[in-house]
Amino acid sequence: MNSLKKFKFKNKYVLVRVDFNVPLDKKGKVKDNSRIKTALPTIEYLIKKKAMVILITHLGKPKGKIVPELKLDPVYKELKKFLKKNVYKLNDCIGPEVDRFIDKMVPGEVVLLENLRFYSEEENNNKNFALELSKNADYYVNDAFATLHRKHASVDTLASLLPSAPGFLVEKEIKELKKALKPKKPLIWLIGGIKEDKYKALKTIAKKANFALVGSGLVDLVKIKNKKIILPVDFTKDKKNRHLDIGPKTIKLFKSYLKKAKTIIWNGPLGMFEKPKFAKGTKQIANFIAKRKAVKIIGGGESAEAIHKYKLTKKMTWVSTGGGASLEFLLGKKLPGIEALEKNQKKFK
Ligand code: 3PG
Repeated sequence: MNSLKKFKFKNKYVLVRVDFNVPLDKKGKVKDNSRIKTALPTIEYLIKKKAMVILITHLGKPKGKIVPELKLDPVYKELKKFLKKNVYKLNDCIGPEVDRFIDKMVPGEVVLLENLRFYSEEENNNKNFALELSKNADYYVNDAFATLHRKHASVDTLASLLPSAPGFLVEKEIKELKKALKPKKPLIWLIGGIKEDKYKALKTIAKKANFALVGSGLVDLVKIKNKKIILPVDFTKDKKNRHLDIGPKTIKLFKSYLKKAKTIIWNGPLGMFEKPKFAKGTKQIANFIAKRKAVKIIGGGESAEAIHKYKLTKKMTWVSTGGGASLEFLLGKKLPGIEALEKNQKKFK
């Protein structure tokens, strides 16, 4: 892949794909701004280099329609807290309003375009949509690590249209997560959450890890018997039979495995940690891992949210910003966003 530092950005338009897909509260305010914060080094670098910075992102799953609750205004408000001046937001991501605004931009200015997923063409990886996005820019930078596993227009096709480079976050994520690709053994992999894709990943995880410790709703999906897959021995469930938390015996059991680990990977919380009543398992295991001397990699999404909440971020080797993306990367899969950047380097050599 190329490097940002190779390009001369002065007076150039730079289209930056970020992942500002942040959690919102019931009032529509940003609940956790870490994804905005982690994109700042790249944005600030481009400002310093006197580029005109055009930010593009998705938020939620509007499925090709304009969903007012998924407009980027709350994200913009949060971004302004960091950048303070010369930062603007538009109500669309393509079209005449966007073209006119971009035409008048001056070096050092930043504009955030509206949610890409208001157009179905984004998820369909549509070439004309990517061309529309690219037409006002000289360079493309992808700093949306959490979206690299999606073969979408702003991740894949865009990188074939302009000279491109990864942003600093993408570079750092790859460098840190690579530490878990050839792990020091024993490797203990904690896996929780409720998503189907986690279950599909479990077989591969059991092959790679010495042991996979499974928690949360995922437990109900596990139908295979495998000595390396360790299931909870006690837990709390609700009336609908949903897993709420792992019990004290399981916490003890999981700790006994984690104690021996030289590498620990964690994707997905062990219960409904957002409710303090059911956070014991996730919290106690998080604190225990924080004290271990092993390489400790936390996949993004909810496990990262838990680690940030318990203020343990600095005690971990790396807390990723990507949920699905970090899981696929750690499983050794090629991410479309990385492949696109690699191809780009050959094309624009
Ligand atoms: C994420 O939150 O994992 C990324 O932003 C990707 O979002 P998606 O799962 O809606 O594609």
